[in-house]
Amino acid sequence: MVNFLVFGPPGSGKGTQSVQLAERFNLVHLSTGDMLRDEIGAATDLGERVKSIMAAGELVPDDIVIAMIASRIDSRGDAAGFIFDGFPRTCDQAMALDRMLADRSALINLMLVLEVEHEELVRRLLSRAEVSGRADDANREVIERRIEVYMEKTEPVAQYYRKLKKYRAINGMGDISDIFERLSVAVKEFI
Ligand code: AP5
Repeated sequence: MVNFLVFGPPGSGKGTQSVQLAERFNLVHLSTGDMLRDEIGAATDLGERVKSIMAAGELVPDDIVIAMIASRIDSRGDAAGFIFDGFPRTCDQAMALDRMLADRSALINLMLVLEVEHEELVRRLLSRAEVSGRADDANREVIERRIEVYMEKTEPVAQYYRKLKKYRAINGMGDISDIFERLSVAVKEFI
């Protein structure tokens, strides 16, 4: 089993690139953001609980996302590997993920960190706001808050994997297809 983290701030292209990587390398794509939006869309109790947190650009509690990921990993025991998108976002989530994978004699092979300039992140998310209907894209203030939360709470996760020598910075500026090729070169080292 080979497992990758696609990491980076809001708007860096994690979702866009993860979907394509999963398809090209026959991996299972797990996005906690998509799972949470599905819960909101289905108006479940969990969805109701997280709706306002997400709309404000804050992080959903660790126990919720860890349980979601654990159940997806369990249900896809046959997978050749996973692409984790938007998870882990805190060091506690990272340690929980490492334990989950260790229980299956697996590990994170590489963290791919998309590097994108701040103004480009904001530009992409404001542009998506015109069509997505995502509450957390609605205005510049909430977008800036998401980026701030990333810097405060999520960026330390990169340092966690850097210490484990699993960190790989990828230039996330430019054409989607060019970025995809950069990511693919890194993934191919492990497949
Ligand atoms: P999540 O869904 O993970 O969103 P995010 O990290 O804020 O990131 P985005 O989906 O906005 O951006 P992305 O990096 O995936 O880029 P994308 O490919 O979409 O999380 C949302 C919320 O859920 C969190 O704020 C939190 O509340 C909660 N949550 C989720 N996971 C959690 C966790 N583990 N713990 C706690 N809470 C959690 O691209 C963005 C836009 O740019 C798109 O329109 C795309 O078409 C465009 N684009 C992409 N690449 C390019 C390019 N190269 N050039 C031009 N445009 C591009």
